[in-house]
Amino acid sequence: MKNSIAICPGSFDPVTNGHLDIITRAANMFDKVIVVVAYNANKKHCFTPDERVEMIKKCIPDLLNVEVVHFDGLLASYAADCGATAIIKGLRAMSDFEYEFQMALTNKKLNPNVETLFLTTDAQNMYLSSSMVRQIASMNGDISSFVPEAIRQDIIDRINSKK
Ligand code: COA
Repeated sequence: MKNSIAICPGSFDPVTNGHLDIITRAANMFDKVIVVVAYNANKKHCFTPDERVEMIKKCIPDLLNVEVVHFDGLLASYAADCGATAIIKGLRAMSDFEYEFQMALTNKKLNPNVETLFLTTDAQNMYLSSSMVRQIASMNGDISSFVPEAIRQDIIDRINSKK
């Protein structure tokens, strides 16, 4: 696909090794990948959008075809505005499927030019989630297997500052 643009959306609150695996694989498949720090109306976010964007950027200095942005509106509209033809999501387990399926169908309805593609998560990240990382950090646990070293201390400092 020439000049192909894909978007990788999520709350990234914070970004984890699981997300980074998906972003890296997407960057190998598309000419340009835009990581979209988006708003999930069902969640109360811990890190500000700017903090989440900065943390992702710190983790991927070598991925030159990846851009990281914050967007608070509808993902389908963002995809249309930036000319993306694909939304890339990681599927961890069957339990993710129903919700992801619903989002994919809704996004397709809102923007028929965009396809949602699911990448199977690496086995070692199947159990991982941002809330689990936050919970472990808040209890002074070791998060070094779940997030890159570049942002480990940022996460701990931010969570401790909220206590
Ligand atoms: N590896 C490890 N963990 C992963 C993962 C992966 N590859 N992919 C997702 N996760 C985790 C996430 O960290 C998240 O953990 P949490 O629940 O502890 O925060 C969980 O799995 C769920 O991820 P996801 O389903 O991607 O939800 P999200 O909140 O990260 O992102 C949005 C959802 C932001 C993409 C969605 O709400 C959206 O598109 N919002 C924009 C507004 C809009 O268009 N709404 C209509 C949508 S149809």
